[in-house]
Amino acid sequence: MTVQISPSILSADFARLADEAAAVAGAADWLHVDVMDNHFVPNLTLGLPVVQALLKHATLPLDCHLMITEPDQHAPAYAEAGAGSVTIHAEAARAPVRTLRAIRAAGARAGLAVNPGTAVEPYEDLLPELDMLLLMTVEPGFGGQHFLDLVLPKLSRARAMVSSHGGAIWLQVDGGVSAETIERCAEAGADVFVAGSAVYGADDPAQAIQALREQAQRATARADWAR
Ligand code: DX5
Ligand code: ZN
Repeated sequence: MTVQISPSILSADFARLADEAAAVAGAADWLHVDVMDNHFVPNLTLGLPVVQALLKHATLPLDCHLMITEPDQHAPAYAEAGAGSVTIHAEAARAPVRTLRAIRAAGARAGLAVNPGTAVEPYEDLLPELDMLLLMTVEPGFGGQHFLDLVLPKLSRARAMVSSHGGAIWLQVDGGVSAETIERCAEAGADVFVAGSAVYGADDPAQAIQALREQAQRATARADWAR
């Protein structure tokens, strides 16, 4: 199972996004872009114009995480703009099948995110429509929050669910992922790790990514689910 690291630019300097993207380009697999609309979450970040600008400068594929109330209306445009992956929230989508299909039709990977208090089991029938399932390990809205251990049993159940469908769907964790918590996530079944403050808060972001990747690889090697 391949470990992937997706640093979140939410913890980067928004006035220097191209430089901040370049700082992780050689070390990361994706660049995680948190789109927040002040309605789905109590915070406002950036939207399609900034993503379009970033696409011109970033060499890494963009992993767009849409924390917005109207993903059905807005998500396909991120895929059409050239994002490599577009993730919508289950709590917000009213027509998830249509929206996930539109994301894929525009050439991006389609992701579905669930908040810490949202169960994954009701979405099992949607798995064929998905390339990635994102389990939030904090309540969405802000970087630098404490990791919620209560999500770990759900992560194990999600891994079993994904395995029973062939195992091709990536399982992403986002929120409070750090040197202290990443091994627990990998052991429970995650294979794509978002890290904001643990990467951009470090003196050397690229080196922090490499250290996180090695920790996750070691934890995956001893995990039952990856055998
Ligand atoms: C939170 C965002 C995260 C955030 C993670 O709502 O979705 O991507 O940037 O930041 P850290 O890693 O600092 O918890
Ligand atoms: Zn995110």
